[in-house]
Amino acid sequence: MSLDPRERLIVALDVPSVAEAEALVARLGDTVSFYKIGYQLAFAGGIDFAGALASAGKQVFLDLKLHDIGNTVAKGVESVARLGVTFLTVHAYPQTMHAAVDARRGSNLRLLAVTVLTSYDDADLAAAGYDFTVSELVAERAAQARDVGIDGLVCSAAEAEMLRPTIGPGMVLVTPGIRPADSEKGDQKRVMTPAAAIAAGADYLVVGRPVIAASDPKAAAAAIIAEIKNAAT
Ligand code: C5P
Repeated sequence: MSLDPRERLIVALDVPSVAEAEALVARLGDTVSFYKIGYQLAFAGGIDFAGALASAGKQVFLDLKLHDIGNTVAKGVESVARLGVTFLTVHAYPQTMHAAVDARRGSNLRLLAVTVLTSYDDADLAAAGYDFTVSELVAERAAQARDVGIDGLVCSAAEAEMLRPTIGPGMVLVTPGIRPADSEKGDQKRVMTPAAAIAAGADYLVVGRPVIAASDPKAAAAAIIAEIKNAAT
């Protein structure tokens, strides 16, 4: 897959208000072309803002992790598709994924599946009633996502290498938990540098705090894009 290094960086707009998101987007200017909006901003005006960003020529990843009865998922996906955003996340349950794939037909919306949340370990799965380890369930759901026609997966960069043979070259891998060598880890436990994540097979890198909390966000984003470019050549 040949992607422009600039569009492989997705900056997470993890801020509490549209005003703060607008200020950040203005500060990052042409350096950043792809943004992720999650629960925090989505529930504070971020859905309309996602549409506005898409209309302004930016790509948007709406990280809403949908999961409900099929009909409700389908109607939600139809509404999201009308916003003109690029990526939407759904949980990797077969019924949810089928409904989402059917509903986005004819639109440019691409669907990403979340296999197992990275905050879950084997004990959390057992407590939720599953008789699988995390790696077994990740592998099973990745194969189901592929078979259903999902466009990509959100996964840790450490999982990327393991998942690529299952999903093949056609699906994209979107990886958070990215930390440039000189930055703070924060609460992320398993991190990779941008270069290592690209080498492991990630297509897109989701980066929040190393960009948005930097003293110079634009320079931080430019440095990550340069690292992606070097690693990809
Ligand atoms: O600030 P930081 O770079 O850690 O932000 C990473 C972003 O990716 C956050 O928006 C976080 O919610 C998201 N994310 C994650 N791990 C996952 C899935 C999403 O860190 N497994």
